[in-house]
Amino acid sequence: MVKKDRPKFPDSYIGDQALDYDSSNWMERNQKITTYRSIELLNDQNLGNFTDHDNNELLLLDLGCGSGFSTEVLLEEKYRVISIDILPDMLHYFREKKIDNSLIILADIRELPIRDNKIDHIISVSSFNFIYEDLYDDTEKNRVLRRTSKAIRDIMRENGRIVIEFYPESENDIKLLTKAFKSAGFDGFFVKDNSTASSAKMLLISASRVII
Ligand SMILES: C[S@@+](CC[C@H](N)C(=O)[O-])C[C@H]1O[C@@H](n2cnc3c(N)ncnc32)[C@H](O)[C@@H]1O
Repeated sequence: MVKKDRPKFPDSYIGDQALDYDSSNWMERNQKITTYRSIELLNDQNLGNFTDHDNNELLLLDLGCGSGFSTEVLLEEKYRVISIDILPDMLHYFREKKIDNSLIILADIRELPIRDNKIDHIISVSSFNFIYEDLYDDTEKNRVLRRTSKAIRDIMRENGRIVIEFYPESENDIKLLTKAFKSAGFDGFFVKDNSTASSAKMLLISASRVII
C-alpha cells in the first residue's frame, strides 16, 4: 500500500487538494471503514449508560464532515444527521453529492452553532486533531480542548456518546484530550484499533455524557 503523508490543515483540503481528497477511492474507503467502527462503538452495550433506540430516532452530529464520506454512512444507517465543517471547499464537494437529507453547516468545531441538549451522539473521523494542531503550547491546547469539550457536552442529550478518531502526535496529546473530556463530565477512554490505514497511529476515544 502507498504510504500517505500526514495531512496538513488547511492545505490538504483546499482548492485542488479538496478535489483530490473527494476523488480518492482510498480515502473514501478508509473514512467509511472508520465510520462503521465508530458506529459500532456508539452501540457497544458493554460501555456504560447505553440506551437502545431506533437509529431514525437519533440525531447525530458529524464533526469535520469534509466532503461527506462519514455522513453518507450515517445516513445509510438511517440516522438523522447534522454535518459540520470549517472549509467551504470541502463542503462544495459534499453538496455536489446532492445528499439532501443531511443538514450541512459551515462552522468551526470550536464554536458550535447548536442549541443545548439537541444532539444524541457525535462522531468525528480524522478531523478533531486539527482544532489544536497549530498550537504548540500545552496551556493553549488545554484551553481549546476544555472549552470545546464543555460546549460539546452542553449540546448533547443525557447518555449521549461521542466517538472521536484522531491522530495524536504524542502520549501527551492523548492525555490532554482525555483530561479535557473527563473534566467536562464524560467517561472518556481510548480504544486503540489496528488501523487499515497506512498510519499506525489511529486511536478512538469513546465517551458517554453523564450528568454530574
Ligand atoms: C479528513 S477530512 C474529513 C473527514 C470526514 N470524516 C470525511 O468523511 O470526509 C478533515 C476535515 O476536518 C475539517 N476541519 C478541520 N478543522 C476544523 C474545525 N476547526 N472545524 C470544523 N471542521 C474542521 C477540515 O476542513 C476537513 O474537511
